[in-house]
This record gives sequence, C-alpha cells and structure tokens, in this order.
Amino acid sequence: MIDKKENYDIAVVGATGAVGRRILATLDERNFPVGRLSALASVRSVGQMLPFRGRMIEVKELRENSFVGMDIALFSAGSSISKQYAPIAVKSGCVAIDNSSAWRMEKDIPLIVPEVNPSALGEKCEIIANPNCSTIQMVVALKPIHDRYRVRKVFVSTYQSVSGSGQKAIEELKHQSRNILNGKSVQKDIYPHQIAFNCLPHIDVFMENGYTKEEMKMVNETHKILGDSTIEVSPTAVRVPVFNSHSEAVSVETELPMNVDEVKDVFSSSPGISLVDNPENNEYPLAVDACGKGDVFVGRVRGGLKRDNIINFWVVSDNLLKGAAYNAVQIAELVLKRLGN
Ligand code: A2P
Repeated sequence: MIDKKENYDIAVVGATGAVGRRILATLDERNFPVGRLSALASVRSVGQMLPFRGRMIEVKELRENSFVGMDIALFSAGSSISKQYAPIAVKSGCVAIDNSSAWRMEKDIPLIVPEVNPSALGEKCEIIANPNCSTIQMVVALKPIHDRYRVRKVFVSTYQSVSGSGQKAIEELKHQSRNILNGKSVQKDIYPHQIAFNCLPHIDVFMENGYTKEEMKMVNETHKILGDSTIEVSPTAVRVPVFNSHSEAVSVETELPMNVDEVKDVFSSSPGISLVDNPENNEYPLAVDACGKGDVFVGRVRGGLKRDNIINFWVVSDNLLKGAAYNAVQIAELVLKRLGN
C-alpha cells in the first residue's frame, strides 16, 4: 500500500486512447491531487502531446520501468497490456487500477463500483479492477433495488455505443455514415458488419453457451459486485450506431413487492443516480444528454402490468466516464480516503 501524501504521482497507461484521454480530463475536473503525471502509450504515440491542467504532457512509451517512483497506475490499454504490466506496476510500489477485463474475475482482486461496493476494497490495495461499462451502469441502478426488495431476476438488453470499442470504432461509424449518405460502399475493419444505420446483436466473442463474452461479463460481474450469485441475469448485448453513452432496457423481478413511486424515490435518493422521468414532457434519459456526465440516468420507471414484484426501467450513462474513466478515478479517490486523505 502506498503512503499518505499531499500529491500522488500518477501513470496513465493507454493515455492516448478514448478512455485514457477521459482519465486525464477526470483527474483534472475532480481536482485529484496529482504530483507528476506520466502519459504512457505504445511506441506509435511517443512524442504526441496531451493536454492536462492547462499544460501539454509528452506521451512516453510504456516500458517495464515506467512505474518506478509512481504511486497510482490507471490502465486502459486492453487486457493483454494489463495482464503483463499491472503486476509490474504493483512490484514497483503502485496501486494498479485496471479498466480491462484481465483481472476482474480473479478471486482476490476487488471489482469495485464506489457507489455500490466500496467495502470490497481490501487492506492491500494492489490491483483493483474496474467493471465492464455495461455492468457498471446497471449495478448502480440495481443496488438500491436489491437492498430494499432483493433482486431475483434481471432481464437486460443493451444499446451500446461504438466508443466502447475505442477511437477507431468512432472513426468507422463516421466513415461508414458519410459513405452511405454519399452512395458509396462501406469499409468494415472493427465490426464484422456495417455498424452505420444498423444494430449488431454481437459484442465481443461468442461463448460455447451461445452468449457473448460481453453478456457473460454482465452476469458474472453483477454477481461479484452485488455479492449474490443467485441473481438470475439474462442479458442481450447490442452495438448500436451511437457515438457515445450506453443505454439499457432493464426488467427486474424482486422477492418483495414494489411500489413504483417508492422505487422512483429510492432511485432519486441513491448515490450516482439521476432520475429523469417525466414522460408527459418527453423527458427520459438519452445517450446524447448523458455524454460528459458522471451520473447514471434512470427513467421510464414502470411496474409490472400483472405483478407487483416487477419493475422496468431505462438506464443511460457515458460509457467512457462512469463506465470507465470516472469510475476508475473514483476508485483512486477511495484509495486516498483509505489513506486518510
Ligand atoms: P496508441 O495510441 O499508442 O496505440 P483505444 O481503446 O481508444 O483504441 O485506446 C487504446 C490505448 O491503448 C491507446 O492509448 C493505445 O496507445 C494503447 N496501447 C495499445 N497497444 C499498446 C501497447 N502495446 N503498449 C502501450 N499502449 C498500448
């Protein structure tokens, strides 16, 4: 565990990526006590300049010695980089906060959403995993329902933006949209099918059980974060032609009966949730409105038509922020709190 200090030296691995850039912006916006900041990426980006707190930081190549003298390393450069370098960061004395799926389901690695399970942060604070973006926004909404009514079943369909596949996917959606509107053919590099003007019921690879890896992340990570593997989670993960922010249609069955107005009160008084639910004024959570915000937005809250232990809602969040960068910085803040900052 690192020592308490006034300012902490931070390494951001994957600083040039879609999430990495948000990590830099979030550290700044939340006035995180940063001493030195090291922006790390592949050799391709060496020399690139990134803005941080009104100055420009030069990107350096990620190397084994990149973590010497640093306190906290925030990883967002994919699973294989995290698998290889997070233990090296820990050996160098860093707390490693990892955005990839590399460590999430390891038994001794805490998987944390600060509004949901902050107590999962162990004494050691070595590698700490950030959950998958689609899981984070769902569990922030499920947690207060679970605490009050005990969640038994969750049926969820996701409408996930392309930014979750990285910067190149954002470019792919732009190019394909432009080409189609100009009557030209499309090029597919990131997705197996055209993503512009289309929906793909396919995120990450297919598993033997017919679900995708993304869907199984939602199942397994929800169990780990809520500490209850008896909850039945049935997900369908869909990539949609939205640049940023994920939306999810969630149906929940609980053990105890629910009252819709009470559930709305529970949502609006829970940390990290903004209730946006005035359908009479066409007000409900929207991907375009959630962009750039750290909250999870919940709306369209409806009870079951035949049973009072069912609740349906729509939940939207910026997948690069609460789904990644913002949650990772919140975890770093939790570590500082543990140190007494
Ligand atoms: P680079 O820009 O040099 O390729 P995204 O998810 O938006 O595609 O971003 C991925 C991030 O991970 C980028 O910052 C990228 O850096 C970084 N990255 C990818 N491969 C490596 C690598 N081998 N070593 C270090 N960083 C890497």
